[in-house]
Amino acid sequence: MNYFEYQKSELYCEDVPIKEIVKAVGTPLYIYSHRTFTRHFQVFDNAFREIPHVACYSCKANANGALLRIINKLGGGADIVSGGELYKALRAGIPSNKIVFSGVGKSEEELRAAIKADILMINIESGGELALLKKLSKSMKKKVPVSIRVNPEIDPKTHPYITTGLKKNKFGVLWADAQRLYREIAKEKYLLPVGISSHIGSQILELAPFIETVRSLKSMVRQLEGEGMTLSMIDIGGGLGITYKDELPPNPEEYAKVITEELKGMGLTLILEPGRVLVGNSGIFVAKVLYVKKVPEKTFYIVDGAMNDLVRPSLYNAYHDIKPVDESLGTGTKVDIVGPICESGDFLAKDRGMPELNQGDLIAIFGAGAYGYSMSSNYNARRRAPEVLVKDKEFFIVRKRETFGDLVKGESTPSFLEV
Ligand code: LLP
Repeated sequence: MNYFEYQKSELYCEDVPIKEIVKAVGTPLYIYSHRTFTRHFQVFDNAFREIPHVACYSCKANANGALLRIINKLGGGADIVSGGELYKALRAGIPSNKIVFSGVGKSEEELRAAIKADILMINIESGGELALLKKLSKSMKKKVPVSIRVNPEIDPKTHPYITTGLKKNKFGVLWADAQRLYREIAKEKYLLPVGISSHIGSQILELAPFIETVRSLKSMVRQLEGEGMTLSMIDIGGGLGITYKDELPPNPEEYAKVITEELKGMGLTLILEPGRVLVGNSGIFVAKVLYVKKVPEKTFYIVDGAMNDLVRPSLYNAYHDIKPVDESLGTGTKVDIVGPICESGDFLAKDRGMPELNQGDLIAIFGAGAYGYSMSSNYNARRRAPEVLVKDKEFFIVRKRETFGDLVKGESTPSFLEV
């Protein structure tokens, strides 16, 4: 369910024609729907109404400050993986007691910042990290609530690049080691073992891996209880998939039902880290056709958006639905939709049935709200695209297009090269 729809053959976001935004902002650009994002959060959050929980939006999916502020207004928290995300989440007003920190390589500086901010929980991912936390908590004389991110060795059957809970992955700690780490934590005056966490992967389309994960975490909690440790939080990460093409992911109600059934009555607060499911279909990426180029074997629509803006097709061979902004019913032309970057891997779609398009036509790439802007870069010295938030009849530029000045703002010239 989203609010990008055709009205009289022209694509709108909520009540605003995409063309009106393009006229003001230019292309390429990202457009987010406030109504869609809000609805997705509310549906997700409400689905867990029967158990105590905090939905900590996974900032990595899209950390635009306006979106983080929406999450905060709706009562959500944040799942962060860096000092930068901590900074952005706090800046957007997300209360520190709704922030959880995961990540395999947290630096000392990042851990210090998280301890100082009094966040809800730090999810420890290695013995080395625990050793550093012991040292920091003592020297800062602060009680630090922690969990161990366990690797439950469950196959979520998703793309290998976004699987995280297998034995061979770098994430989390295997149970035998986790047990040992919990015992170490229990002896520390300044570390509080408050939770257990895990995240098994992303774009997961079945319930079974989630159920298996919760069961496995439950049994770990019981074993720890047996040793006299009482945890209050169980963090099951994110990972619920969305429809990009014809996938049929479980809806949030179905997802919540199986998890609620497992956890009801256990007295644990559930922490969730949803990213894609909230923001993926809340955003589109809009680009303009620069040229239509035909070679004997192929037709290329060369557009002004590229892999630096939206890398998912190039990186994961991901499918994103693409439609012209002016509705056109034909899909008779098989084309590659490519960007201007000097790489053959720079494509948004391959062998895609599309209507006949001409120079200047606009296309909308759907499902671009998650891992779109947040994975963008300046490759080929391309300025990063602007981001626009639509709310009902109005639109707001929530990030300007970068300037050429932005491209060199961190650079400095060594004296021997000055003229
Ligand atoms: N929690 C942790 C610890 C994570 O590592 C992730 C995603 C999430 C939560 C949120 O997962 P979600 O609900 O969005 O599935 N760039 C890839 C996805 C990478 C996901 C990384 N971790 C893509 O574009 O498909």
